[in-house]
Amino acid sequence: MNLAPFNEKTLIGAFWTASQRQAHSLHEVSYRACFKPQLPEYFINQYTAVGDVIYDPFSGRGTTALQAVLMGRSAIANDVNPLSERLVRPRIIPPTLEAIQERLESIHLAENLKADIDLSMFYHPTTESHIVSLQRYLQTRRDNLCLDVIDEWINMVATNHLTGHSSGFFSVYTFPPNQAVSATRQTKINQQRKQTPDYRDIKKIILKKSKSLLRSEIKSKNQRASAVFLTGDARHTSQIQDNSVDLVVTSPPFLDVIQYADDNWLRLWFNRIPTPNITMSKTVAAWSVVMLEVFIELYRVCKPSAHVAFEVGEVKKGKIKLDEVVLPLAEQAGFTHLKTLINTQAFTKTANIWGVKNNEVGTNSNRIVLLQK
Ligand SMILES: C[S@@+](CC[C@H](N)C(=O)[O-])C[C@H]1O[C@@H](n2cnc3c(N)ncnc32)[C@H](O)[C@@H]1O
Repeated sequence: MNLAPFNEKTLIGAFWTASQRQAHSLHEVSYRACFKPQLPEYFINQYTAVGDVIYDPFSGRGTTALQAVLMGRSAIANDVNPLSERLVRPRIIPPTLEAIQERLESIHLAENLKADIDLSMFYHPTTESHIVSLQRYLQTRRDNLCLDVIDEWINMVATNHLTGHSSGFFSVYTFPPNQAVSATRQTKINQQRKQTPDYRDIKKIILKKSKSLLRSEIKSKNQRASAVFLTGDARHTSQIQDNSVDLVVTSPPFLDVIQYADDNWLRLWFNRIPTPNITMSKTVAAWSVVMLEVFIELYRVCKPSAHVAFEVGEVKKGKIKLDEVVLPLAEQAGFTHLKTLINTQAFTKTANIWGVKNNEVGTNSNRIVLLQK
């Protein structure tokens, strides 16, 4: 580890490595501004023991919750967007590939259905019909309260492969479903690329991706780990008891940098979820008001001596350092500042996907404010 302190409480170094390959395959679900599993893994290792309770109030794709469970801890995951639970829950105790295959075979996909919105710029008519058919099957199961973990898994994989850049996705060439472009923009992309949507076998794609997600070993102790899911505002989590959490590892929305609802519009459509009310603060002052309330709530749920690892990025090209903004708010809520970790790592960009030179090196940094109750 290469540590270079620039003041007594700020440490810069490579605390964990970037390689996704070292992480468990179950993490491989796309989400805007997600952190690498190595980040929660580092803090879970440092500050907790098996059986402890780990909480993420801004759960996203559930990196913290999943990593906690994989390490034999209990997890609480909250996000204001109901999509979050749909992406995380089935990966906590995943079904077997055989069960997924059997279920897929049993689902009848109709040939002549149309979506309730125009999706012709994304999908071949038969693929669209199959997607709508799957969507209706899942909704019926949900409405009848018989959606099980196998259905939830299929829902999660389908949600994650609605659109993308290769034949591994349901759509013609486009952006991934966590950055879905509008219908108008897709029509332009199709014109520019002179492309029309070709048929995609959605059952085959779901099975192939399931196999990939399930390729890492799942140790038996994971099955015993428990997880709780909440869908609401991180400022109001009355379902979580006072003094009950051992560690929080989280990353809030960075002002209004990412449009979580717009970027996920197709995923929300497939899941029949109305647009959620996601915190989108335009100014640091407005963001600080929300974050102070979040810290007050975190202080309530944390056990005495519990740790909070609060990851924030640099926004406005480094002009605003959100770690410096959150510190006084956390202290006002009662937390003690232990240190700020700035994790920097050099990485080699994956050339074959993005068309850049194989040895081109970039940097990636996370700024984590570490607090204690
Ligand atoms: C930076 S992302 C978290 C990503 C997560 N660390 C991961 O690895 O996937 C921030 C998340 O906060 C959620 N969010 C925004 N405002 C919220 C609020 N007021 N309460 C709870 N969640 C909120 C967004 O929906 C988004 O999923």
